[in-house]
Amino acid sequence: MEPQPTNEVDSCPIPLSVSLTMTSSPQLSGFLEIATEAALAAGAVLLSYLGKIGTATQKGRPGDLVTVADKASEAVVLEILQRHFPDHSILAEESGKLGLAESQYLWAIDPLDGTTNYAHQYPFFAVSIGLLIAGVPEVGVIFDPYRQELFRAAKGLGATKNRHPIQVSSTTQLSESLLVSGFAYDRHETADNNYAEFCHLTHLTQGVRRSGSAALDLAYVACGRLDGYWERGIAPWDIGAGVILLKEAGGKVTAYDESPLSIESGRILASNGLIHHSLSQELIKVPLSTRSNIIS
Ligand code: IPD
Ligand code: CA
Ligand code: CA
Repeated sequence: MEPQPTNEVDSCPIPLSVSLTMTSSPQLSGFLEIATEAALAAGAVLLSYLGKIGTATQKGRPGDLVTVADKASEAVVLEILQRHFPDHSILAEESGKLGLAESQYLWAIDPLDGTTNYAHQYPFFAVSIGLLIAGVPEVGVIFDPYRQELFRAAKGLGATKNRHPIQVSSTTQLSESLLVSGFAYDRHETADNNYAEFCHLTHLTQGVRRSGSAALDLAYVACGRLDGYWERGIAPWDIGAGVILLKEAGGKVTAYDESPLSIESGRILASNGLIHHSLSQELIKVPLSTRSNIIS
């Protein structure tokens, strides 16, 4: 499958080179522009390898793949961020923790979110770059290079898709909602694998999708294509950018029980805000006994 990249989406030119546009928060805005430069460069790398890689390597549990494209994309992101921010720390999926441990700035990088999709030439994947400041996501860029969709946000500066403001949906009822979720690579090893929750919410809504890219799941809730998302077994690099994107688009992000999100907890509940309480109530009522019956 050959990608058909285009520089125009929604009649908006894609910023293939970076222009620094300072807004009310110059420092955050500057971080956002550099993250954008990195995401666009990494996205170009992903497109250049798409359909041309050999076999993907299993790096951990069954299904947890890594390709030459993941590594090449990450190298590009690291080079740009480390050049601009040598005193920041980094948490990158393929390289782990880098940089100064004591820095309050932590870049959470997923160079290819949706590796399984990518390895199968299923065109749904993204680069995700989030900046956590003192542990709180404040800048996020998610780039889908196949569709040339660039999602960006910074705290207090709003959320955009291809530089146009975005906002969450206005769906108020679970019965009218379209949700998305995912399954972590340890799903074969634990009864707490999200299968029962997925079935339960499928029954109560217009549908639950499993896209294979947590970053795009959050971006799609942020721009109103989806109404809610939840997942367990998720890492900071999967959601660091999406959390601030969704918040700035008017959405809500918490733990399953609506308590404050801990980005390291591995669990996230995200929505347009309007269905958040209902979604939380339904998620937490799925009994453990049901879950343990799902796997043999
Ligand atoms: C995965 C995707 C998927 C989610 C998995 C993640 P990867 O990331 O975001 O949607 O369900 O939990 O690990 O491995 O493609 O970067
Ligand atoms: Ca990921
Ligand atoms: Ca990845």
